[in-house]
Amino acid sequence: MKYIKYNIEYENKLNVAVIGCGGHTYRNILPCFAYAPVNLVAVCDLDINKALKVAKVFGFEKVYDDYHKMLSDVKIDAVFVITGYDKDSKSLYPKIAIECMRKGCHVWIEKPPASSSAEIREMIQTSHETNKKIMVGFKKMFFPSIQKLKQIISSQEFGETTSVYIRYPQNIPLNVNDRQDNKKMLWFLDHIVHPLSILVYLMGEIKSIYFNINEKVGSSITNITFKSGAIGTLHLAASASQTSPLEHLEVIGEGANVIVENGVKLRYYKKGDRVVKELKHLNGGYGRMSSYIGDDEVAPIFWEPEFSLGQLYNKNIFMLGYAQEILYFCESVLNNEPIMIGSLEQALHILNVYEAYKYEQGVLVTIK
Ligand SMILES: NC(=O)c1ccc[n+]([C@@H]2O[C@H](COP(=O)([O-])OP(=O)(O)OC[C@H]3O[C@@H](n4cnc5c(N)ncnc54)[C@H](O)[C@@H]3O)[C@@H](O)[C@H]2O)c1
Repeated sequence: MKYIKYNIEYENKLNVAVIGCGGHTYRNILPCFAYAPVNLVAVCDLDINKALKVAKVFGFEKVYDDYHKMLSDVKIDAVFVITGYDKDSKSLYPKIAIECMRKGCHVWIEKPPASSSAEIREMIQTSHETNKKIMVGFKKMFFPSIQKLKQIISSQEFGETTSVYIRYPQNIPLNVNDRQDNKKMLWFLDHIVHPLSILVYLMGEIKSIYFNINEKVGSSITNITFKSGAIGTLHLAASASQTSPLEHLEVIGEGANVIVENGVKLRYYKKGDRVVKELKHLNGGYGRMSSYIGDDEVAPIFWEPEFSLGQLYNKNIFMLGYAQEILYFCESVLNNEPIMIGSLEQALHILNVYEAYKYEQGVLVTIK
């Protein structure tokens, strides 16, 4: 767990700019800057009135409706780009990120980082050529629950991670021709990056997938083999109730398993035996145990947030990893350390998996 400093307590800060002043920027990104080492130098939106209002609320010094002009006018260390799609439903991030890097800025971009793996490769190349860092806001990699789960599954006592199950509500176009069309795939791309970012962060790269689609509602089950040898299921439960929590995640090791429900509740079933010590000599105690409660050393660990204290951990920007991902990016830039979480290499792999859904269902697709 990290000790969080407030913006006002930092001495060494990055001069930053923001491109895109939509709902997500206002709700989730700008509030994070209160906990990051940043000076809010400039803000830009195509709609100047939006940018002016945002600048007033959050205290940006300069306001623009053209990011080219902004990049030429002011000295900026890093740019946060939160723009979304163009009129053809293509992700705007590759074009804008490449321009920012060429203008000498490090870049943080929202998801989906691109509409194709080719665009991610272009960003990787530009990042190498310009020596500028770029990070994708895969917030789920930074959820406290997912970070803890990662720590648990990396421990010796958990053993190797052997299988994983993740559920997320999302439909996919039934017709394979529709799956070649950016417009028709927009929401699939927009959301598939969320569960895939969890899988890639926890389990490493995917070797192959095959998927089947429910023809009525467009839900799907994808069977996955990871390069590590682990296997998994991605259940895109399109027709789940709108009132339900979105996610369920379970990772199985060797004699141990760990579950994250609804992104916040973590349950860890440690390796161990349900039979208490005093019954062990009685043939394992099977058929004779009057209690389901085992010994304390092997008891499950359960964590959930508390909502009484005015802490940082019970703000959504911390529970959903936004503040942590932004802090991680700023620290990586300030300390000149590589981006390992939310990297373009992870993004490339995620886009490679996304592109595998352009095939017919029911065929085994090897991921590059
Ligand atoms: N990680 C998450 O939890 C999460 C949640 C919501 C949205 N998002 C992502 O955030 C992004 C924005 O979402 P939103 O809901 O705020 O969208 P939005 O449409 O409300 O806002 C986008 C803003 O970007 C501006 N913009 C577009 N092109 C621009 C350009 N060239 N220069 C300057 N400004 C430009 C638009 O005018 C608009 O104000 C999307 O990529 C979305 O997928 C992520």
